Amino acid sequence: MQWRNSPHNYGAVSIAMHWLVALTVIGLFALGYWMVGLNYYSSWYRTAPDIHKSVGLLLLALMVIRVVWRFANQGPAPLASHGRFTRLATKAGHGVLYVGLFAVMMSGYLISTADGRPISVFGWFEVPALITSIPDQEDVAGLVHEYLAWGLIILSGLHALAALKHHFIDRDPTLKRMVGRADAS
Ligand code: HEM
Ligand code: HEM
Repeated sequence: MQWRNSPHNYGAVSIAMHWLVALTVIGLFALGYWMVGLNYYSSWYRTAPDIHKSVGLLLLALMVIRVVWRFANQGPAPLASHGRFTRLATKAGHGVLYVGLFAVMMSGYLISTADGRPISVFGWFEVPALITSIPDQEDVAGLVHEYLAWGLIILSGLHALAALKHHFIDRDPTLKRMVGRADAS
């Protein structure tokens, strides 16, 4: 398999980033959902949000690299068997997934830095608070983060179902291209 995308296939870098981001997003959703229900006496009360924030910011860095890679290295062309509607829906769906990912991460950052304190990423380095002036920032960003996280996970689920439909019902190589198993290169 090639590192770069080709006109017909995703390359190893795009594939690795896709699945790493997908696993991380699902993990962050589960961790976030679980950690907001913890009480003060749980030993995870402080650690779980620290992990959630640190992983979330590393994901943000990975997504910036992914977008740069996407622009530097165009993805494969749509399959010939995909009609106008499928192509449009795919493009729109992927666009909303990209925007949704950044919006969830930015709203999380705004909750965590609302009090002006930086975020420590696993104690390795700190990310400073840049915006602290939004009225009721912590609460507003918290609500936005919760709704957006739900929206993102539901859309990702529909996206996965679409990929499975292409694989099992249409029997086209859409999913194979994202696991590096399509024939044409
Ligand atoms: C795609 C990435 C992310 C996903 C899917 C995600 C998901 C979630 C979910 C589901 C919750 C629980 C919401 C609730 O029920 O109130 C949550 C809470 C939280 N997240 Fe994230 N998150 C992500 C990234 C981030 C990032 C990058 C940060 C900060 C740097 C962050 C900071 C927080 C904080 C502080 C809370 C607690 C909010 C509260 O106490 O109400 N998240 N997240
Ligand atoms: C949270 C989970 C997920 C997120 C955020 C996500 C996001 C994305 C994004 C943004 C793209 C567009 C890539 C590009 O060309 O720039 C993509 C492509 C793709 N994803 Fe996912 N994905 C997730 C999970 C999944 C799962 C579980 C599957 C399979 C069951 C899947 C299958 C695919 C396939 C086959 C493509 C390529 C589609 C095409 O060539 O038109 N994804 N995904």
